[in-house]
Amino acid sequence: MQTVNALDPLRSALSALRAKGTIALVPTMGALHDGHLTLVRKARARADAVVVSIFVNPLQFGVNEDLDAYPRVLARDSELLAAEGVDVLWAPHVSAMYPEGFATSIRVSGVSEGLCGAARPGHFDGVATVVCKLFNQVAPDMALFGEKDWQQLAVIRRMARDLDLTSPHVARIFGVPIVREEDGLAMSSRNAYLTADERARAVALPEAMRTAIARIEAGEKLAETLAALVQELMQAGFASIDYAQLCDAESLDVLAAPIDRAMRLLVAARLGTTRLIDNMAVGR
Ligand code: PAJ
Repeated sequence: MQTVNALDPLRSALSALRAKGTIALVPTMGALHDGHLTLVRKARARADAVVVSIFVNPLQFGVNEDLDAYPRVLARDSELLAAEGVDVLWAPHVSAMYPEGFATSIRVSGVSEGLCGAARPGHFDGVATVVCKLFNQVAPDMALFGEKDWQQLAVIRRMARDLDLTSPHVARIFGVPIVREEDGLAMSSRNAYLTADERARAVALPEAMRTAIARIEAGEKLAETLAALVQELMQAGFASIDYAQLCDAESLDVLAAPIDRAMRLLVAARLGTTRLIDNMAVGR
């Protein structure tokens, strides 16, 4: 595996790869776990070569968020990726990604405004901007993202369509189902922030969501079901709930009642100082 930190060596590495066939890109912020590695394995299966990026993107962190505390374990990540047969690790310095005077921002309205977008103003502008840059830098044939960040995936798909990034650069954007711990908690780099006690409580999130989904599917009133879900999480020791909503799976419009299209239950909740997100399909 070749590790590159600046654009010129990236371009040389890519031209060698391109001669061999298709390239898949897996963007990450590092502190890799099995969720990330599942994306890498799927990428490996679909493309001739795999490029993984690790970049803790300052643009997508709010002023009071965990940019400085975000886990950075590049040596360990690099070993994991080499063992997965990754061809290139693109780990740019902040100055390579955002040179002095950087002044451009991509905002995807609509789909990025509610849910996490409302709780974290500017977050998805930062995600869209960096992912657009990564697509331009790597020009992959495909890119893979996790459904763990359902809204992020929707924002990226919208941006790629709107800015014609799907052709010829990113022929395809693949969403990969959420990888969970044995007890059902969605894997996340932020789970490392949880104390042992919080980690034990965290399982209440997927459990309460599954209960709520069963109630929704059984035809119980949506508002009452969502209120019960919030109540259950508070009783389990969550500090606050940013949102718990049933949404149209594609547009992410918040629903007041179930509809006859793909739906998703999305929740963001704080356990101590850690913010956890999860989402699950409802109905079909
Ligand atoms: P990060 O949180 O490191 O996640 C990188 C990719 O791994 C994302 O596509 C995310 O959805 C996926 N992922 C994380 N946990 C997962 C899980 N449990 N199951 C399946 N996929 C999972 O998301 C980001 O980084 C950044 O916002 C990024 C897109 C890299 C832009 O900076």
